[in-house]
Amino acid sequence: MADTYILGIESSCDETAAAVVRSGEELISNVVYSQIATHHPYGGVVPELASREHLRAIVPVVRKALEDAGKTYQSIDAIAVTQGPGLAGSLLVGLSFAKALAFAVDKPLIAVNHLEGHIHAVLLEERQNGNDDLQFPVLALVVSGGHTHLYLAERRDCGWTYRNIGHTRDDAAGEAFDKVAKLLELGYPGGPSIDFLARHGNPQAVKFPFAQIKHRDRNPENRHSPEERRTDFSYSGIKTAVLRYVEVHNMAASIQRRREAMKSVAKPKAEDYLAACDRQTLDLVASFQRAVVDDLVSKTLAAAIEYGVATLLVTGGVAANSELRATFEARAAEEGIPVLFPSRKLSTDNAAMIAAAAYPRYLAGEFAPTDISSDAALRLG
Ligand code: KG4
Ligand code: ZN
Repeated sequence: MADTYILGIESSCDETAAAVVRSGEELISNVVYSQIATHHPYGGVVPELASREHLRAIVPVVRKALEDAGKTYQSIDAIAVTQGPGLAGSLLVGLSFAKALAFAVDKPLIAVNHLEGHIHAVLLEERQNGNDDLQFPVLALVVSGGHTHLYLAERRDCGWTYRNIGHTRDDAAGEAFDKVAKLLELGYPGGPSIDFLARHGNPQAVKFPFAQIKHRDRNPENRHSPEERRTDFSYSGIKTAVLRYVEVHNMAASIQRRREAMKSVAKPKAEDYLAACDRQTLDLVASFQRAVVDDLVSKTLAAAIEYGVATLLVTGGVAANSELRATFEARAAEEGIPVLFPSRKLSTDNAAMIAAAAYPRYLAGEFAPTDISSDAALRLG
């Protein structure tokens, strides 16, 4: 079968990204323009600013991805774009651009669910490394700034189907990292800096117990039969527990000192935050990370055992976390379940995963209708 080159475009949150992937198995180019500098002063993504930054960046980012791949608008076979979920204004920029481009160069347009994209980041790299022999059933944990979902993934003919067997009832795990970092003045995004700082603290210092979720999901959108076994998560409680700890232990002055110290650093790095952290802060951060990692790993492995899973995929921004990777590797090995991660580069948002997820749809001729719109709350499975 002839090679198929798909141009992927991703703009669901604060990264403007474009990539070219060959036949869902080889990453040809991958350009990610991160808006971290824009949102850093606010300690979180400002949706209005994100949309404007996407508008500014999208043309040069797409051009660069094609250039790096040695491709032109005419020589690609299809355009894939994130339809949702994500920030409404951000999604509109990517989808409008992709739609207009597909129309202008007369190429098929393929709409991709961002969450499916994260799963295909792992599959793309596995195929690239020559591993075509994925053992089913497959369980995928998608854990990022906006999502914490568990999917049973199945391959049917050349397409994929997903069944959601768990999700977060409130905050996503990455959101908890970001909010705790904001509270402690540790920069944005919080995940990478907490990942680094946690190595310098005592993870046993503070106990953060996670309550088991027993009540049914009150959100009518999340309908499932009462007898279905769910593995739900919740991360807003630990964020509040960290806040309580900070209050009870009078850490405000130490946080204020760090805020002041960071004002004189142009682009603070993890090492700068480390220099501005006392032992109590490092211990708190290490204990927080250990608690979140333990919860993610224990619940995911319990679900994997229950469903007799043969392969575990862990993907999304939080999958870049060193402690999460090490703990999953150790505990999944004890259960004899292989666990696959994307490289760190493809863990966080990128367009290669969108182009890879589009390939089965390209083969099946599943192209987007001309009246397609973005969907900020798009679900998978
Ligand atoms: O996948 P992603 O780029 O965007 C979403 O789809 O949400 O994930 C971004 C999230 C942020 O919350 C960020 O703090 C978190 O991933 N993250 C990490 C690490 N690197 C990024 N969390 C923990 N440890 C990391 N090393
Ligand atoms: Zn994402």
